[in-house]
Amino acid sequence: MTDKKVTLTLDSNESAVDLNVLKGTLGQDVVDVRGLGSHGVFTFDPGFTSTASCESKITYIDGEEGILLHRGFPIAELATKSDYLEVCYILLNGEVPTAEQYQQFKTQVTRHTMIHEQITRLFHGFRRDSHPMAVMCGVTGALAAFYHDSMDVNNPRHREIAAFRLLSKMPTVAAMCYKYSIGQPFVYPRNDLSYAGNFLHMMFATPCEEYKINPVLERAMDRILILHADHEQNASTSTVRTAGSSGANPFACIAAGIASLWGPAHGGANEATLHMLEEISSVEHIPEFVRRAKDKNDSFRLMGFGHRVYKNYDPRATVMRETCHEVLEELGMKDDLLEVAMQLEHIALNDPYFIERKLYPNVDFYSGLILKAMGIPTSMFTVIFAMARTVGWISHWIEMHEEGMKIARPRQLYTGYTERKFESKR
Ligand code: SDX
Repeated sequence: MTDKKVTLTLDSNESAVDLNVLKGTLGQDVVDVRGLGSHGVFTFDPGFTSTASCESKITYIDGEEGILLHRGFPIAELATKSDYLEVCYILLNGEVPTAEQYQQFKTQVTRHTMIHEQITRLFHGFRRDSHPMAVMCGVTGALAAFYHDSMDVNNPRHREIAAFRLLSKMPTVAAMCYKYSIGQPFVYPRNDLSYAGNFLHMMFATPCEEYKINPVLERAMDRILILHADHEQNASTSTVRTAGSSGANPFACIAAGIASLWGPAHGGANEATLHMLEEISSVEHIPEFVRRAKDKNDSFRLMGFGHRVYKNYDPRATVMRETCHEVLEELGMKDDLLEVAMQLEHIALNDPYFIERKLYPNVDFYSGLILKAMGIPTSMFTVIFAMARTVGWISHWIEMHEEGMKIARPRQLYTGYTERKFESKR
């Protein structure tokens, strides 16, 4: 709270309304409009881009400065000095774990990676050519049908159990989505592998031969998971909070988050970016696509560019770009699509249209290229994003319950018919 106030005068004869200004530790102050409804007016902010929907201590973003902090730690430091499980601990608990705490956390996660054997039959209800995100969304929601003992959202112990179950099992479910889509047998998780290594093993191992995990790819996957772990009140996290505000169980809330992330304007952008690069296919075609991206009458947009919050650069993209080059160098791959991507990046960063609108490559621009280089099909990109973001969704879900959020209930500006008499025309 500050002693600053905003005075709102609604019209000449209405007495002025004083609204408190609240101040956080970083970022913009907020005007507390909670009491405004009682004065007969609502705020109007479709897309909530000027609305602070909650108070949070988890992640801070400064879009103008390209800053991303998780519990105060800069993303570039976490991505280069930490690992995904340690970042999960930090997001969930707020502090860096001691060696003992880290080992306990890692053991807890590792020992819950298997899923109920009956869940494997759920997959067989889907067509083999289902989009893996459809399967991921369905199976995640269905976990509520198997884990009844951690569904009391008001019980901190239940919330903790659900958090570990989701964090542990999402890689298993994600890899199963892939295996099912290619008709290969599911591969069970292994307790002797790292979180990222275990996922790669479940994705690519077969009963026929040993799968050797490439440490460069294992590290790259771990870094991709870190860079996608959380991102403040984005569309899917806000969806999880809204679902959670009704008291819905954690599995249903995460399934709602997966559904929201699927959209091409959000987490589906990495898949959409690859499809776009494949459609462009060669550097000679770039000028035509850039022209289309600028054409208001053309729905084409440069996937992987722009961001609702970052209006200079996405700090995650910087780390992701370095990782992209590392992976391609390790694999000795000269990827034609990377040539297109690099040329597209160069043009966009020098074109007044994109500069004026502050449209820079975002995290999804490079992540798709890395995943493709790893042999992961495009349709699995958003599944991996969802797997990584589960810890962020769960952290916000837990924080919301600890803070005691009321059920989310936005209002509207109604522009429909006034009351009129019904007369049937049949
Ligand atoms: C993620 O919110 C998060 O934190 C999300 C995320 C996370 O970690 O959770 O960071 C993950 O979703 C990253 C974003 C991935 N999406 C894409 O890459 C899809 C392509 N990007 C666009 O759809 C768009 O940039 C958005 C949706 C990401 C952001 O849209 P904004 O900020 O609302 O921008 P806008 O729609 O108001 O556009 C501003 C101008 C418009 O032109 P004018 O009307 O001013 O002339 O920029 C143009 C837009 O037409 N524009 C683009 C463009 N994005 C915006 N033009 C061409 N290509 C683009 N990609």
